[in-house]
Amino acid sequence: MFITFEGGEGTGKSTQVKLLAERLRAQGKDVLTTREPGGTPEAEALRNLLVSGETSRWTSNEELLLNFAARGSHLRQVIKPALVIGQTVICDRFIDSSYVYQVAAGGASFLLFDQLMNTIAGEAIPDFTFILDIDPAIGATRAAARSATAHESRFERKGTEFHNKVRIAFSDLAAQQSKRCHLIDANGTAEVVAARIREKLND
Ligand code: TMP
Repeated sequence: MFITFEGGEGTGKSTQVKLLAERLRAQGKDVLTTREPGGTPEAEALRNLLVSGETSRWTSNEELLLNFAARGSHLRQVIKPALVIGQTVICDRFIDSSYVYQVAAGGASFLLFDQLMNTIAGEAIPDFTFILDIDPAIGATRAAARSATAHESRFERKGTEFHNKVRIAFSDLAAQQSKRCHLIDANGTAEVVAARIREKLND
Protein backbone atom coordinates (compact mmCIF):
# COMPACT_ATOMS: atom_id res chain seq x y z
CA MET A 1 0.00 0.00 0.00
CA PHE A 2 1.20 3.48 -0.91
CA ILE A 3 0.04 6.36 1.33
CA THR A 4 0.98 10.02 0.89
CA PHE A 5 0.53 13.10 3.06
CA GLU A 6 0.05 16.51 1.51
CA GLY A 7 -0.81 20.04 2.60
CA GLY A 8 0.53 23.56 2.99
CA GLU A 9 3.32 24.74 5.27
CA GLY A 10 3.12 23.92 9.00
CA THR A 11 0.14 21.56 8.72
CA GLY A 12 1.87 18.87 10.83
CA LYS A 13 2.41 16.30 8.04
CA SER A 14 5.69 14.95 9.37
CA THR A 15 4.18 14.28 12.81
CA GLN A 16 1.22 12.50 11.23
CA VAL A 17 3.49 10.38 9.02
CA LYS A 18 5.30 9.26 12.18
CA LEU A 19 2.10 8.56 14.15
CA LEU A 20 0.47 6.58 11.34
CA ALA A 21 3.65 4.55 10.79
CA GLU A 22 3.80 3.70 14.51
CA ARG A 23 0.15 2.67 14.46
CA LEU A 24 0.50 0.44 11.40
CA ARG A 25 3.70 -1.13 12.76
CA ALA A 26 1.89 -1.95 16.00
CA GLN A 27 -0.63 -3.81 13.82
CA GLY A 28 2.24 -5.87 12.38
CA LYS A 29 2.70 -4.03 9.07
CA ASP A 30 6.15 -3.54 7.54
CA VAL A 31 6.21 0.24 7.05
CA LEU A 32 8.70 2.45 5.24
CA THR A 33 8.51 6.22 5.77
CA THR A 34 10.12 8.63 3.37
CA ARG A 35 9.76 12.18 2.03
CA GLU A 36 9.85 14.38 -1.05
CA PRO A 37 11.73 16.12 -2.36
CA GLY A 38 14.26 13.62 -1.01
CA GLY A 39 14.49 9.97 -0.01
CA THR A 40 17.77 9.18 -1.83
CA PRO A 41 21.16 10.95 -1.55
CA GLU A 42 20.69 12.38 -5.07
CA ALA A 43 17.15 13.59 -4.37
CA GLU A 44 18.21 15.07 -1.01
CA ALA A 45 20.89 17.06 -2.86
CA LEU A 46 18.19 18.41 -5.20
CA ARG A 47 15.98 19.14 -2.17
CA ASN A 48 18.71 21.32 -0.74
CA LEU A 49 18.80 23.34 -3.96
CA LEU A 50 14.99 23.66 -4.03
CA VAL A 51 14.18 24.60 -0.44
CA SER A 52 16.99 27.05 0.36
CA GLY A 53 18.15 30.39 -1.02
CA GLU A 54 16.33 33.23 -2.75
CA THR A 55 12.71 32.64 -3.78
CA SER A 56 13.68 33.91 -7.25
CA ARG A 57 16.45 31.35 -7.75
CA TRP A 58 14.13 28.98 -9.70
CA THR A 59 11.02 29.58 -11.81
CA SER A 60 8.03 27.29 -11.26
CA ASN A 61 8.84 25.33 -14.45
CA GLU A 62 12.40 24.82 -13.20
CA GLU A 63 11.08 23.68 -9.80
CA LEU A 64 8.82 21.21 -11.61
CA LEU A 65 11.79 19.71 -13.48
CA LEU A 66 13.93 19.48 -10.34
CA ASN A 67 11.15 17.93 -8.25
CA PHE A 68 10.48 15.29 -10.91
CA ALA A 69 14.20 14.54 -11.30
CA ALA A 70 14.30 13.94 -7.53
CA ARG A 71 11.07 11.90 -7.75
CA GLY A 72 12.46 9.67 -10.49
CA SER A 73 15.46 8.75 -8.34
CA HIS A 74 13.22 8.22 -5.29
CA LEU A 75 10.72 6.02 -7.14
CA ARG A 76 13.38 3.92 -8.83
CA GLN A 77 15.61 3.37 -5.81
CA VAL A 78 13.21 3.41 -2.84
CA ILE A 79 9.43 3.49 -3.40
CA LYS A 80 8.98 0.91 -6.17
CA PRO A 81 11.34 -1.70 -4.63
CA ALA A 82 9.56 -1.32 -1.26
CA LEU A 83 6.11 -1.78 -2.81
CA VAL A 84 7.33 -4.84 -4.75
CA ILE A 85 8.35 -6.60 -1.51
CA GLY A 86 5.01 -5.74 0.10
CA GLN A 87 6.01 -2.89 2.39
CA THR A 88 3.54 -0.12 3.22
CA VAL A 89 5.13 3.11 2.00
CA ILE A 90 4.17 6.40 3.68
CA CYS A 91 5.57 9.42 1.88
CA ASP A 92 5.61 13.01 3.18
CA ARG A 93 4.59 14.90 -0.02
CA PHE A 94 4.48 13.48 -3.56
CA ILE A 95 2.96 14.31 -6.99
CA ASP A 96 0.15 16.49 -5.62
CA SER A 97 2.67 18.96 -4.16
CA SER A 98 4.13 19.41 -7.66
CA TYR A 99 0.68 20.04 -9.14
CA VAL A 100 -0.38 22.43 -6.36
CA TYR A 101 2.85 24.35 -5.63
CA GLN A 102 4.27 24.52 -9.16
CA VAL A 103 1.24 24.43 -11.50
CA ALA A 104 -1.84 25.68 -9.61
CA ALA A 105 -0.17 28.25 -7.33
CA GLY A 106 3.09 28.83 -9.24
CA GLY A 107 1.77 29.00 -12.81
CA ALA A 108 4.03 26.28 -14.29
CA SER A 109 2.94 24.51 -17.47
CA PHE A 110 0.25 21.85 -16.96
CA LEU A 111 1.44 20.20 -20.18
CA LEU A 112 4.94 19.84 -18.75
CA PHE A 113 3.49 18.46 -15.50
CA ASP A 114 1.39 15.95 -17.45
CA GLN A 115 4.36 14.81 -19.52
CA LEU A 116 6.52 14.40 -16.42
CA MET A 117 3.72 12.47 -14.72
CA ASN A 118 3.54 10.05 -17.66
CA THR A 119 7.29 9.74 -18.11
CA ILE A 120 8.47 9.59 -14.50
CA ALA A 121 5.59 8.75 -12.15
CA GLY A 122 3.76 6.39 -14.54
CA GLU A 123 1.64 3.92 -12.60
CA ALA A 124 2.99 5.03 -9.22
CA ILE A 125 -0.18 6.70 -7.97
CA PRO A 126 -0.87 6.56 -4.20
CA ASP A 127 -3.70 4.39 -2.86
CA PHE A 128 -4.54 7.01 -0.20
CA THR A 129 -3.61 10.67 0.07
CA PHE A 130 -4.31 12.67 3.22
CA ILE A 131 -4.38 16.40 2.61
CA LEU A 132 -3.93 18.29 5.87
CA ASP A 133 -5.81 21.58 5.83
CA ILE A 134 -5.18 24.61 8.01
CA ASP A 135 -5.39 28.42 7.68
CA PRO A 136 -2.05 29.39 6.04
CA ALA A 137 -1.55 32.12 8.68
CA ILE A 138 -1.61 29.47 11.44
CA GLY A 139 0.57 27.16 9.34
CA ALA A 140 3.14 29.91 8.79
CA THR A 141 3.43 30.51 12.54
CA ARG A 142 3.91 26.79 13.16
CA ALA A 143 6.45 26.49 10.33
CA ALA A 144 8.42 29.50 11.60
CA ALA A 145 8.71 27.85 15.01
CA ARG A 146 10.74 24.97 13.50
CA SER A 147 14.00 26.85 13.93
CA ALA A 148 16.12 23.77 13.16
CA THR A 149 14.94 23.80 9.54
CA ALA A 150 15.06 27.59 9.08
CA HIS A 151 17.43 27.25 6.10
CA GLU A 152 14.66 25.27 4.35
CA SER A 153 12.33 28.25 4.19
CA ARG A 154 12.41 29.15 0.47
CA PHE A 155 8.79 28.09 -0.19
CA GLU A 156 7.60 29.48 3.15
CA ARG A 157 8.88 32.91 2.01
CA LYS A 158 6.71 32.92 -1.14
CA GLY A 159 4.09 35.15 0.51
CA THR A 160 0.48 35.09 1.67
CA GLU A 161 -1.14 35.15 -1.78
CA PHE A 162 0.87 32.11 -2.90
CA HIS A 163 0.01 30.14 0.26
CA ASN A 164 -3.69 31.00 0.00
CA LYS A 165 -3.63 29.62 -3.57
CA VAL A 166 -1.89 26.47 -2.28
CA ARG A 167 -4.65 25.90 0.26
CA ILE A 168 -7.44 26.39 -2.30
CA ALA A 169 -5.73 24.16 -4.88
CA PHE A 170 -5.32 21.32 -2.35
CA SER A 171 -8.97 21.52 -1.33
CA ASP A 172 -10.07 21.60 -5.01
CA LEU A 173 -7.92 18.54 -5.64
CA ALA A 174 -9.55 16.71 -2.73
CA ALA A 175 -12.97 17.49 -4.25
CA GLN A 176 -11.91 16.39 -7.76
CA GLN A 177 -10.13 13.19 -6.70
CA SER A 178 -12.35 12.27 -3.79
CA LYS A 179 -11.67 8.52 -4.04
CA ARG A 180 -7.94 8.91 -3.42
CA CYS A 181 -7.63 12.27 -1.64
CA HIS A 182 -9.06 12.95 1.80
CA LEU A 183 -9.10 16.46 3.23
CA ILE A 184 -8.29 16.39 6.95
CA ASP A 185 -8.88 19.28 9.33
CA ALA A 186 -5.38 19.89 10.78
CA ASN A 187 -6.57 22.06 13.68
CA GLY A 188 -6.18 20.51 17.13
CA THR A 189 -3.57 18.38 18.83
CA ALA A 190 -1.52 15.83 16.90
CA GLU A 191 -3.55 13.02 18.54
CA VAL A 192 -6.88 14.57 17.52
CA VAL A 193 -5.68 14.94 13.91
CA ALA A 194 -4.29 11.37 13.95
CA ALA A 195 -7.70 10.09 15.04
CA ARG A 196 -9.33 11.86 12.06
CA ILE A 197 -6.84 10.17 9.73
CA ARG A 198 -7.40 6.71 11.28
CA GLU A 199 -11.14 7.13 10.88
CA LYS A 200 -10.76 7.82 7.13
CA LEU A 201 -8.37 4.89 6.71
CA ASN A 202 -10.76 2.52 8.50
CA ASP A 203 -13.62 3.68 6.25
P1 TMP B 1 8.43 20.06 3.45
O1 TMP B 1 8.76 21.34 4.14
O2 TMP B 1 7.04 19.62 3.64
O3 TMP B 1 9.44 18.98 3.69
O4 TMP B 1 8.51 20.34 1.84
C1 TMP B 1 9.51 21.09 1.29
C2 TMP B 1 8.95 22.13 0.36
O5 TMP B 1 8.95 21.66 -0.97
C3 TMP B 1 7.54 22.59 0.66
O6 TMP B 1 7.55 23.99 0.81
C4 TMP B 1 6.75 22.23 -0.58
C5 TMP B 1 7.79 22.06 -1.65
N1 TMP B 1 7.48 21.10 -2.70
C6 TMP B 1 7.11 21.57 -3.95
O7 TMP B 1 6.99 22.77 -4.15
N2 TMP B 1 6.87 20.66 -4.94
C7 TMP B 1 7.00 19.30 -4.77
O8 TMP B 1 6.78 18.52 -5.69
C8 TMP B 1 7.38 18.83 -3.46
C9 TMP B 1 7.52 17.37 -3.21
C10 TMP B 1 7.61 19.76 -2.46
